[in-house]
Amino acid sequence: MSAPRMTPREPAAGAPLWLLAELTYRCPLQCPYCSNPLDFAAHRGELSTDEWFEVMRQARALGAVQLGFSGGEPLVRDDLEALVAEARRLGFYSNLITSGLGLDEARIEALREAGLDHIQISLQAADDDLAAALAGSRRAHAKKLAMARAVKAAGYPMVLNVVLHRHNIDQIGRLIALCDELGADAVELANCQHYGWAQLNRAGLLPSREQLEAAEATTARWRERLAERGRDMRLLFVVPDYHEDRPKACMGGWGSIFMTVAPDGTVLPCHSARDLPMRFPRVHEHSLETIWYQSAAFNRFRGDAWMPAPCRDCDERHQDHGGCRCQAYLLTGDPTATDPVCDLSPDHHLIEAARAEADGDARGLGELVSRNARESRVF
Ligand code: SF4
Ligand code: FES
Repeated sequence: MSAPRMTPREPAAGAPLWLLAELTYRCPLQCPYCSNPLDFAAHRGELSTDEWFEVMRQARALGAVQLGFSGGEPLVRDDLEALVAEARRLGFYSNLITSGLGLDEARIEALREAGLDHIQISLQAADDDLAAALAGSRRAHAKKLAMARAVKAAGYPMVLNVVLHRHNIDQIGRLIALCDELGADAVELANCQHYGWAQLNRAGLLPSREQLEAAEATTARWRERLAERGRDMRLLFVVPDYHEDRPKACMGGWGSIFMTVAPDGTVLPCHSARDLPMRFPRVHEHSLETIWYQSAAFNRFRGDAWMPAPCRDCDERHQDHGGCRCQAYLLTGDPTATDPVCDLSPDHHLIEAARAEADGDARGLGELVSRNARESRVF
């Protein structure tokens, strides 16, 4: 396949501030809401340690200051400590986004010594049974709890992330209580965004309006209770797009501040873009500087000239940038469409239909396809 097209001009783009290094698609867990591409198994190649060093060096030279190590599960890379050390040497603020599997006290200490700034561990549920059903592992939940405690004991703030969806959102009170008991400093209660496997499983994951409102009310009560106790545990509740009437400003705008490098070196404006019908350049073909400023892919949705009606005449177009390109494509088949989450979009009925389905009396918990096996499993 030939290298993708470059435009000779340098558009008015600022520097990328964030680099997300997706080190691998490999993962011991099988979460049905994974945002990795459905065909992740087809992308087997992974950049070598030296290639990641070069990616980090180029990104830092471009102006990136924040570096997230994610995957898949980044801990399956046994060069993670070396990558962290190089990130520190280059002056990045580095964050490890992990399930906690593959971690132990010795590795936490090695990562701390290498200069890792921050660790975020994800939880699936408040109890063993649901966590095991979601993650596809019996031992994952207990391991996550142990590693959350170990991370804190090593002097890091305990930052936990829970992806909320139809199956676990009713446990939110127990989830917050669990985080409190663990001594968490911050908890991100992030409703599932529907990309990759989560889009495949959307019907089984999207909570009803009633579930969502109950969860928000519980979170608000917990905030009051924590404040009364003088307990400093921040709770961030992220509402699902599908229950909003305006889209999020995805990635702060396409090619605006965020750059993802996928395990095989494909450079993307967001973690889901490789599902779009576009060709994205790889680090083997061009420098990150050329890709960021000059590639057709990164320039495709910058600015507002590409926008269709109603975005092109809308006063909000510079706030939300017309919403998410990946979501527009997944829902309409057209990556240039207005994000259907917007109630001004001619495709908003797609969102309303999904909400109506989620709210319907006949809906149970639904079937979920686990990430690896591509087999339906009914909870
Ligand atoms: Fe945003 Fe477009 Fe909706 Fe306006 S019409 S609010 S720019 S998505
Ligand atoms: Fe790709 Fe929103 S996730 S643009």
